Amino acid sequence: MDTFEAIETRRAVKHFDPRHRLSDSEQEHLLSLALLSPTAFNIQHWRLVLVDDADLRARIRAAAWDQAQVTDASLLIVLCADTKAWQKDPARYWRNAPGPVQDFMLPAIQHYYQGREQVQRDEALRSSGIIAQTLMLGARAMGYDSCPMDGFDFDAVGELIALPADHLIAMMIAIGKATEPARPRGGQLPLDQIVVRNRFSR
Ligand SMILES: Cc1cc2nc3c(=O)[nH]c(=O)nc-3n(C[C@H](O)[C@H](O)[C@H](O)COP(=O)(O)O)c2cc1C
Repeated sequence: MDTFEAIETRRAVKHFDPRHRLSDSEQEHLLSLALLSPTAFNIQHWRLVLVDDADLRARIRAAAWDQAQVTDASLLIVLCADTKAWQKDPARYWRNAPGPVQDFMLPAIQHYYQGREQVQRDEALRSSGIIAQTLMLGARAMGYDSCPMDGFDFDAVGELIALPADHLIAMMIAIGKATEPARPRGGQLPLDQIVVRNRFSR
């Protein structure tokens, strides 16, 4: 499947085969692809909580308005981010780079994030959106379907997964084998309602 087809056929699927599981190698492949997603300064601050405990899935489902995807999908990822990754051994993000690049990047990371709580949160959510799409398109290319989800009680799910205080939850992503196609598309806006040439008109 090429990229165009993966984009065109990715849909938010609500019904997954609860008996199907991705193999370990498929899971590894998908997660390795996801890891190639871009992050500003390459800080890779996403944290992917893979929930395979059936009881925990059931409790998350209860906190997600009983949405069946949570228990039935092969893979349930609570997509989190560490908003303080920028200050946790940042040399690891550039360990393969030449010395001059490291000398530039490491202070730049500190300068960009230090004391800027909103930026830390914005970047975490920005990066999470990108990796989410990588996961969904990667899954599609492997013949699977997905559903991005934020229809849940974030505090309750944070509690259930023991979310650290300096992390946030961006969304959940259910991935698996669809048993029913998605409903027809809700309706895409015409391009002229979303494309702005050069600047907004006041
Ligand atoms: C951040 C986000 C959260 C969403 N949350 C849910 C959800 O909780 N449950 C659900 O069934 N679909 C959810 N969706 C799916 C959207 O309803 C769906 O993407 C949208 O209607 C467009 O349909 P499509 O993805 O099939 O093209 C979510 C989508 C996004 C991007």
